[in-house]
Amino acid sequence: MTATAEHDLLHPSTPPCLHLLSAFLAMEPTDSLIALARECGGGRVTERVQRFIWDHCMVECSTQAGKLHAPYLKKFLKKLIAEVELNCGDVLDELYEHYAHFMTSLKDSDLERDNARVFKSISFLFPDGCLELTSCPESRKLMVPLHCSLNMLEGDTGCSVWPSSLYLSECILSFPDLFTNKSCFEVGSGVGLVGICLAHVKASKVILSDGDLSTLANMMVNLELNHISVETNMSETTEDPYMVKTVKCLHLPWESVSESELQNLKPDIILGADVIYDPICLPHLVRILALLLNQMKLESKGADGSVNGYCQGNGNGDKFDAFLAKRTDNSATNAGSKKGSMAFIATVIRTIDTFDKFCALLDSANLIIKDVTETLRPSNLLPYMQSYDRTAVRLFAISCK
Ligand SMILES: C[S@@+](CC[C@H](N)C(=O)[O-])C[C@H]1O[C@@H](n2cnc3c(N)ncnc32)[C@H](O)[C@@H]1O
Repeated sequence: MTATAEHDLLHPSTPPCLHLLSAFLAMEPTDSLIALARECGGGRVTERVQRFIWDHCMVECSTQAGKLHAPYLKKFLKKLIAEVELNCGDVLDELYEHYAHFMTSLKDSDLERDNARVFKSISFLFPDGCLELTSCPESRKLMVPLHCSLNMLEGDTGCSVWPSSLYLSECILSFPDLFTNKSCFEVGSGVGLVGICLAHVKASKVILSDGDLSTLANMMVNLELNHISVETNMSETTEDPYMVKTVKCLHLPWESVSESELQNLKPDIILGADVIYDPICLPHLVRILALLLNQMKLESKGADGSVNGYCQGNGNGDKFDAFLAKRTDNSATNAGSKKGSMAFIATVIRTIDTFDKFCALLDSANLIIKDVTETLRPSNLLPYMQSYDRTAVRLFAISCK
């Protein structure tokens, strides 16, 4: 590769450099970063690539919202230096010096601390021809900074970013017309990523919820990080013109939420990502879905007793296809129309028995479920994220019979 060709590649807004930068900000595994760095240099981590990493990843990103996680930077620099040395290249002085600083100030075990909370950014990249974001149509990228945990296990479950919320976010951004001007309510919202995407596609109302108080507190931090004002059960917030939108955050444990608490929500669309995993919680989750979907079915009944929108059909799932085809093809005429509601649940099926139990509970509650993964396949907006296996996620639509 000629020097000019390589120079042309090293621009932060074009792949593969855009992918390297996005992967770095999303704290992708350091091996993925090295692979992308090699791609930037046409097979080698050249001096220009190192300069790009220093200028755009290490220096520029350190001035952005939230501090980059030092143990992660140390691990990346160690791999980067080893890669260059292995290929008999010259390591940039700045990279050596920065690594030496980490060597004296950090222990390797710091990275393994499983309670670490970090700032990372998820960059959704819009390929040409893909639907643009209504909130910033000129931009080909939506960057969502998040405060989250590196530990997906016990205790910090809701503060991690799960693959289904990445998938649901890609769906929202790929099919914005389905959600624009719709009142949306999410169960088990975790870090709040789905809600942030809903705010960007201009859902008329966004209500997020979680049963875990520390998760809820972290979710609010994330909304504010993304310039979204927060309204809670306790507070009424006045709209701030400098914020993207106001999102409501509710403490809503599925086991104890009362029918009257749910009555005022009246969502057009209910969402959930990676919420089908604990068999003990499932009856409570299904109770909430049934209450909300049936409430909206009753509200959407016409004077002649006929049912509009999502709840229309012969009960075998045809209504989902008809509805989705209509919505994805033609949004403008439907936007704002009040119809019965539908739930979209994205999930990785880890234990088939648990999923079967969920389906059986839906059936007893007079609800039907349809796999719409193929119908609503989103664009790949996270092409740099090798740690995210989008093929493992299924999307289900749930409605009343
Ligand atoms: C696996 S995490 C998924 C978080 C987020 N939706 C995502 O995909 O990144 C499950 C979420 O559901 C919440 N959750 C689990 N059981 C719950 C319950 N019984 N009531 C309310 N929320 C619950 C957890 O606190 C957690 O935030």
